[in-house]
Amino acid sequence: MRTLLTNIKQLHQVEQPGTKNPLLKSAGQMMGTIPFIDNAWLIIEEGRIHSFGEMSNIPDGDADEVIDVTGRMVLPAWCDSHTHLVFAAPREGEFVDRIKGVSYEEIAKRGGGILNSARRLNEMNEEDLCRQSMDRLQRVMETGTGAIEIKSGYGLCLEGELKMLRVIRRLRDNVTIPVKASFLAAHAYPLEYRENKDGYIKLIIDKMLPAVAAEGLADYMDVFCEDGFFGIPETERLLEAGWKYGLKPKIHANQLHYSGGVQTGVKHGALSVDHLEYVGDVEIAALNGSNTMPTLLPGAAFFLGIQYQPARKMIDAGLPVCLATDYNPGSCPSGNVPLLLSIACTQLKMTPEEAINAVTINGAAAMELEHELGTIKAGKRANLIITHKITSLAHIPYDFGNNPVYRMIC
Ligand code: NIG
Ligand code: FE
Repeated sequence: MRTLLTNIKQLHQVEQPGTKNPLLKSAGQMMGTIPFIDNAWLIIEEGRIHSFGEMSNIPDGDADEVIDVTGRMVLPAWCDSHTHLVFAAPREGEFVDRIKGVSYEEIAKRGGGILNSARRLNEMNEEDLCRQSMDRLQRVMETGTGAIEIKSGYGLCLEGELKMLRVIRRLRDNVTIPVKASFLAAHAYPLEYRENKDGYIKLIIDKMLPAVAAEGLADYMDVFCEDGFFGIPETERLLEAGWKYGLKPKIHANQLHYSGGVQTGVKHGALSVDHLEYVGDVEIAALNGSNTMPTLLPGAAFFLGIQYQPARKMIDAGLPVCLATDYNPGSCPSGNVPLLLSIACTQLKMTPEEAINAVTINGAAAMELEHELGTIKAGKRANLIITHKITSLAHIPYDFGNNPVYRMIC
């Protein structure tokens, strides 16, 4: 099957043929640029980008389908590298409590929050969980998501965690976009282990990890590394155990405190450290020169009303920055990447180009998909966004609350 897109107003995030070094991530000043071609064509063959160029040089030859996209932009689909999209029930009661002044941490301490989600998830059968989660996944694909990472972490027991990871696998097998799975049993201590924290760590390491690995259910190992959740020594034990099964770390760090999570992630070769509301010079120094992708989740900061991530400081220090939604029922019940882009621009003062680099090539890198997605390059998967008729790329974050997607190709 050969599809030809013609009259593309602007084809964005292109890597020109013959470029020596492929773009594997975008960092520092470079994040301020999105290379594009005006008035372009693009050929897709068997789901992959075959070739592209300017309309003045459009090749002769047949295509099975020609799509005239006059007035529309084409760009790589979003790569959302941090979500908790599999969950059983919303938590709007806690949302109202927070409006009235109860903090996210207080709600967690009294057995709500993640434990609330775990209770609901363990009551729900796998079929219903899968159906609900598939609905959510399809909805985020309609707003441009073309690859996604999804975490466990609302089971908090062997059966519950396996159920979540099996659902993630079923989603992966039934959608046309790449889906990566992270094992996050270390998301909160279940009530029955509050006085026996070591017992829960042992349960994760001795029982859950071998079972998860035996079924090949996870790509990554995640830990909610935070004061009041999993401290540094516990995080280190868990990450080392994950590595024994080949699970690279991808962790929650520095959301609520300067907890040392960033440095621990870097030390243990984390693919990414995510959240990063609390990042100062020490954390930036640890990240500089490492292969760990700093991933910012400003949707959660927005929804919890906490401080935003210092994106400007990080980019100005030369770091790459990734953005992800954190879609989950507690701290960010939205998997809408266009809205995330608006928050990143208005609150984190990222430029539209920086924000779009953060959710394309850097999002791909945070899921080890940088050779497959994130730029327009011959041979890459053709997971593409065709926008509504818009005047510039900046219109996407500018037009906040609205969906820029006219049509997805996935
Ligand atoms: O990334 N911070 C930890 N975990 C999730 C929230 C989970 C929840 O509240 O259900 C997050 O924000
Ligand atoms: Fe999260």
